[in-house]
Amino acid sequence: MIRIAVIYGGQSTEHSISCISAGAIMAHLPAEEYEVYPVGITRDGTWVEGTFDPVAGEALPEVSSGRALRVSTSPATRGQFTDAATGEVTATVDVIFPVLHGKYGEDGTIQGLFELSGIPYVGPGVLASACGMDKEFTKKVVAAEGIPVADGILLRSGERTDLTAEERDRLGLPVFVKPCNGGSSIGVSKVDDWAELPAAIELAFANDTKVLVEGALVGDEVEVGVLEYPDGRIAASVAAKLNGTDDSAEGFYGFETKYLEDHVTATIPAPYDAAATGLLQRMAVTAFRALNCKSLARVDFFVTDRGPVLNEVNTMPGFTPISMYPQVWQASGLAYPELLDVLVRTALARTAR
Ligand SMILES: Nc1ncnc2c1ncn2[C@@H]1O[C@H](COP(=O)(O)OP(=O)(O)O)[C@@H](O)[C@H]1O
Ligand SMILES: [Mg+2]
Repeated sequence: MIRIAVIYGGQSTEHSISCISAGAIMAHLPAEEYEVYPVGITRDGTWVEGTFDPVAGEALPEVSSGRALRVSTSPATRGQFTDAATGEVTATVDVIFPVLHGKYGEDGTIQGLFELSGIPYVGPGVLASACGMDKEFTKKVVAAEGIPVADGILLRSGERTDLTAEERDRLGLPVFVKPCNGGSSIGVSKVDDWAELPAAIELAFANDTKVLVEGALVGDEVEVGVLEYPDGRIAASVAAKLNGTDDSAEGFYGFETKYLEDHVTATIPAPYDAAATGLLQRMAVTAFRALNCKSLARVDFFVTDRGPVLNEVNTMPGFTPISMYPQVWQASGLAYPELLDVLVRTALARTAR
């Protein structure tokens, strides 16, 4: 039996999505091999004993309350969870699956906490998580490897919060405005008219102190899964091509379109020939290595008429029943429970190596 803590919720804007991802993961972990300890983190950052069904019929579930917990940060008591009030040990685990998206979950902070005690965990380490979370740094790092990225302008709160006339001319309409450290399209706007730009910038700044304004990429929106096996081999999945993002109410792959509308479907595998698919897979693996990723990542591209352009790297992609990461692996011959098993065994092998 592998004892595994599945951590979900958290302080980020993607709290509910994390609960849905974790619910799906707990439902798919092979019961005969895994003993699961569910741990929730409330929106204000309290760790509590969780449940096996964090969704429980809610469209947008929340971690509300429960027995408050602490996790060990000391190697001597690695993997121990204790009751925050009494100190009583509630569980001891071998590995942690932090199913957390966004701030304090996918950005290296919680990964640093796990590093302190040496507890194995699923997902990339501190540097890759921090870099993948930040779209400014992701673009810089992958561009240094020759991977094309969208032209854009970085704005910083208190320093620079608007575009010059030359920059507007250069980027052209529409532009996409997004928080640098965001996810699930929260705070992202498509701007079709310069008069809408200040409101879009303000919305993005409500989520972050750095904002990217990017020229629109035109082409297929495509996602590729990358997975590390226990022996260190890195594999790329078939690609998923998203359909119907343009004619959704938001006009792009926004939050509502992603999670609340039935609008978007995906073609998996994406209908490209072997050469085009191979190029996407090689670029995905190059980006994975460039960011110093381990374990897993989902690498998102636009396939433009000038070739693939990398949009972003997600180091803890969604695992909801409609999420792309489990689906692209399913289509590559790795069923959801097997995928989870690879992720956990790779986490355990990493510390043993
Ligand atoms: N430069 C761009 N050109 C065209 N569409 C974009 C661009 N940037 C973002 N988008 C659209 O906005 C969505 C969310 O932006 P993204 O950068 O992926 O942020 P998030 O981390 O929130 O998913 C994308 O899936 C895409 O539909
Ligand atoms: Mg995205």
